[in-house]
Amino acid sequence: MPARPGAAVAACLLFLMPPALADPSGDPAAVSSDNGEYSDKQGNPTYKIDKDGTVDWYTAIGYIRYTANCMQCHGPDGLGSSFAPALTDALQGLSYSQFLDTVTNGKKNVSVSQDLVMPAFGTNPNVMCFIDAIFIYLRARSDGALGRGQPANSAPRPKGYSATEDACLG
Ligand code: HEC
Repeated sequence: MPARPGAAVAACLLFLMPPALADPSGDPAAVSSDNGEYSDKQGNPTYKIDKDGTVDWYTAIGYIRYTANCMQCHGPDGLGSSFAPALTDALQGLSYSQFLDTVTNGKKNVSVSQDLVMPAFGTNPNVMCFIDAIFIYLRARSDGALGRGQPANSAPRPKGYSATEDACLG
């Protein structure tokens, strides 16, 4: 049998890798893009991160909007706080549509003694106009594809993005 040092090294690396993280929205690989917003093969919004760490525009915007609207309860980088659960963990059990439903309608866990309430953001344009971006950012964090902190580099703003954003914010 021919020696295959490459395969041996690959096997070792696989052994050292953490177990694959669950992503209920399915394979996050980007297969199409609509004006800078990527989708996976199921049609769910997804991230696209280059080898050099450059993130797509929506991941970058998602970080900013998450930090402005969600971090106060869910902690920096989606890691949770004493007020609310880690969304890096939560997205391992929530699909895109379940995520949308929770953010739109809120959630109150009646089984806990603490009064933990997730507010309903359905009528808040500062959240709903950026909900895909927030999901994309958190999906990347939850999949382990993006580290902590603000992404250093992002793809340029897609043409027409500002007009769409302005129209949504009203
Ligand atoms: C005022 C505090 C607060 C803010 C702000 C907040 N959340 Fe929450 N969120 C909570 C709490 C508390 C829970 C847990 C509720 C429960 O389990 O019943 C929660 C739960 C969730 C869940 C469900 C987690 C699961 O496991 O089912 C999602 C998704 C979520 N929040 C997303 C967001 C996003 C996105 C934002 C920003 C747009 C945000 N939250 C802002 C307090 C907050």
